[in-house]
Amino acid sequence: MKLVLATRNLGKVRELGEMLSDQRKVEILSLRDFSDAPQIVEDGETYQENARKKATQIAEHTGYLTLGDDSGLEVDALNGAPGVHSARYAGENASDAQRIEKLLDALKDVPDDQRTARFKCAIAIAEPEGQSKVVVGVCEGKIIRESRGVHGFGYDPVFVPAGYDQTFAELGDEVKNRISHRAKALRMASKVLFNG
Ligand code: IMP
Repeated sequence: MKLVLATRNLGKVRELGEMLSDQRKVEILSLRDFSDAPQIVEDGETYQENARKKATQIAEHTGYLTLGDDSGLEVDALNGAPGVHSARYAGENASDAQRIEKLLDALKDVPDDQRTARFKCAIAIAEPEGQSKVVVGVCEGKIIRESRGVHGFGYDPVFVPAGYDQTFAELGDEVKNRISHRAKALRMASKVLFNG
């Protein structure tokens, strides 16, 4: 079975590919295998809407079963920001380091016990004929005051998952791929994919 990952984000392709690697019957493709795939505009108001839009449009274009995801970081002290706008939080062409800098600056006066946050990930599975299903995974944690660690991507260096003392960027892929929002959503999506 061929499954297209509707993303160009190398960090996500790597994480999703590793998490699906024990599914021998699945051949993983990504948008890098379809250079003429349309650019999907992520203008939905929810992660679910964006994930479904990516999955259905790419499934229609490629003719293969497609997995689309959308994710973001919700910080309680910022009333849920950056949320669905996490990727563009510091502007369209900003780097991960610039997004982190903006986040830490916005939280500089927030005390340690009020720095709670969560990552959310919606995964949609779409068939070329148009049917789709969406699931959502959540990982609770908190935002620390400076970047720590070199693994992962995005806000990983400042996010400490609940029950741990290290950031996702310190814990590395093996731990992150067990407990992350994406891992949880993917476990639910796998049930949709492989158990009907
Ligand atoms: P999108 O899902 O491609 O729209 O991007 C969501 C954005 O949220 C990413 O660019 C990251 O900035 C952030 N994000 C989502 N998941 C993670 C994660 O697992 N670690 C760190 N940052 C993440």
